Amino acid sequence: MPFPIHRPRRLRRTELLRSMVRETELSANDFIYPLFVCPGKRVKKEIRSMPGVFQMSVDEIVKECREVARLGIPAIILFGIPEEKDDVGSHATIENGVVQQAIRAIKKAKINLTVITDVCLCEYTNHGHCGVIEAGDVANDPTLEILAREALSHAQAGADIVAPSDMMDGRVKRIREILDDNGFSNVPILSYAAKYCSGFYGPFREAAESAPKFGDRRSYQMDPANRHEALKEVFADIEEGADMVMVKPALAYLDIIREVRNAVHVPVAAYNVSGEYSMVKAAVRNGWLDEHRVVLELLTSIKRAGADLILTYFAKDAARWLAKK
Ligand code: PBG
Repeated sequence: MPFPIHRPRRLRRTELLRSMVRETELSANDFIYPLFVCPGKRVKKEIRSMPGVFQMSVDEIVKECREVARLGIPAIILFGIPEEKDDVGSHATIENGVVQQAIRAIKKAKINLTVITDVCLCEYTNHGHCGVIEAGDVANDPTLEILAREALSHAQAGADIVAPSDMMDGRVKRIREILDDNGFSNVPILSYAAKYCSGFYGPFREAAESAPKFGDRRSYQMDPANRHEALKEVFADIEEGADMVMVKPALAYLDIIREVRNAVHVPVAAYNVSGEYSMVKAAVRNGWLDEHRVVLELLTSIKRAGADLILTYFAKDAARWLAKK
């Protein structure tokens, strides 16, 4: 309808009015908070490129989880920095691995949190790739067995959800099989379905000590230029048994989040990754951006794009800000 009859500003006049017609509402309940578990006791070591994010030993992780739950955040995702790395990532699958210990400790403390685990080998291999190396490349099928055993060991330790992030073909199917065969048919799989080969993972690799020692991840993670392929990956994972799918990173891929949300009938998660966090932190430290404002704006944009769940290092701060609103 033409001006002057149509005046969109009428509905923007007061905060109360704006809140009545607001289409997207962010809530602490949308967040999943990533945590990095390392060996030792009373270790809490800040990651240089990610101010406010720490590698923590199991005892510190338990303390942190209490705080996360108190803030109304329903879930965490655990990444492990193992005692030792080798060429096949043996420490990913052991009963007493750091992640397995952390899961047991959180469960023992009876903290009301959904414990998700990242299932991948890059933190556990000495070469830093997400699978085993054969003839200079990451070998798909032999990697599946190790990933499956890793997922099983997480489930045995008490993980509520397992989340494979390796981007090997067929891993969701293999993980579903091994979980079902061992009495864990109730443990859901959140697959990193459309995971792009992104420069925005840089700070994470410092946090998880997982940068590849040679080459890059382009032979298994997706080309940032591709859109159809994201849907192909998502459909394949759902067919293989994924209960939820993820798009990663989030901010440079809001179009993909929207497409996936429109195309599937399972919950869609988006990972607001390390580089997206560090960028904001750096600008804020320089006094160039208002952190509170831009963080809530960015997280709202991810939700508006269609994400039902948001993995974000901003979860705790955002939950505090939302509670005060
Ligand atoms: C792989 C994994 C990565 C991230 C989550 N899982 C890194 C990678 O693929 O190199 C990145 C998360 C982030 O950047 O915050 N296990």
